[in-house]
Amino acid sequence: MNNTKIGLGLAAIGRPQYINLRQESDPDKSEFFYRSRAFDLLSFAYDQGIRHFDTAPSYGKGEEFLQQWYLNNPYKDLSLSTKWGYTYMANWDLGYSKPHEIKEHSLNKLRDQWSVSKSLLPALKTYQIHSATFESGVLKNKEVLQELHDIKKSTGLKIGLSASGIQQKDILEYASKKRVEGEILFESFQVTYNILESSTHEILKELISNGKAIIIKEALANGRIFGNADYDHYSELVIFMESLAKKYQVSLDAIGLRFVIDHLQPAIVLSGASNKRQLTQNLKALKFKLQPKELDQLKQYAVDCDFYWNERKNLKWY
Ligand SMILES: NC(=O)c1ccc[n+]([C@@H]2O[C@H](COP(=O)([O-])OP(=O)(O)OC[C@H]3O[C@@H](n4cnc5c(N)ncnc54)[C@H](OP(=O)(O)O)[C@@H]3O)[C@@H](O)[C@H]2O)c1
Repeated sequence: MNNTKIGLGLAAIGRPQYINLRQESDPDKSEFFYRSRAFDLLSFAYDQGIRHFDTAPSYGKGEEFLQQWYLNNPYKDLSLSTKWGYTYMANWDLGYSKPHEIKEHSLNKLRDQWSVSKSLLPALKTYQIHSATFESGVLKNKEVLQELHDIKKSTGLKIGLSASGIQQKDILEYASKKRVEGEILFESFQVTYNILESSTHEILKELISNGKAIIIKEALANGRIFGNADYDHYSELVIFMESLAKKYQVSLDAIGLRFVIDHLQPAIVLSGASNKRQLTQNLKALKFKLQPKELDQLKQYAVDCDFYWNERKNLKWY
């Protein structure tokens, strides 16, 4: 076994629509229902041993739910992470047809969102740029980088970033060398990594060996590896995962999560569970280990990076 921990991400918990494939639809789409389910799930997760929770201002009410839960449950051993740089636009409007989140990597946005997110301190341990890209210019914005450095100095937080898309590897390579006042700025990297897309393996291994914290997101490829009719090009993978699931007496999600744990050994792999049943099944990934041969077989199902991200881009908000 290794030291990877499972954390819980709030992307699917804080808003009524998200890109995950939603095999089971929510019984109630009201904010009231989501709020009480979030509190219940957060407490359940803590009782199951989860200490890391990841959120962002653009996850609808996800950050607010976490803040409120933390206020009533001020555990000393929590490790929270949040982000800045995206704003939630849909305002709980079901069927909202414009983009649900808008990116803005400006100094004003950082200051604005930090003024709210800092209420997660002292449990907040990691503060991340949400989906850093070269195009947004954020990695070259001296004022923004200086502000992040100042936040780090005044709070002791780890400064991190999340990355998505075909340029994940290049972003990690570039950002990991970034210095402010002679000091390396980024100590934590949140990256998409799963059976279908593991193209960052080499750089992530290098970052891990240099002591950086790696947090894995989208470990289940947003639900695309669950035998969905729209994704039947993954049916051979699903059949193989089913045979492993039978062998280890777990469900497919635990195989997907365990792949990440055994293949990469990151600090944290995020569960995207939206209910207790999913989370309970996800946590079974910590109870077994894949054989090297099984790991090698799973690796064969990786797809071309462009194909993966093109498919990801076309996911609908349900
Ligand atoms: N740019 C960023 O910074 C960024 C982007 C994405 C995610 N994240 C972080 O990563 C976290 C996890 O990512 P994610 O949720 O987007 O992707 P994910 O983990 O790849 O997707 C979760 C998917 O797995 C399904 N699932 C989980 N457990 C299951 C089970 N036991 N049985 C059947 N289906 C199961 C969910 O089903 P349902 O659809 O039915 O719920 C959902 O479709 C987020 O909460 C967030 O904190 C960050």
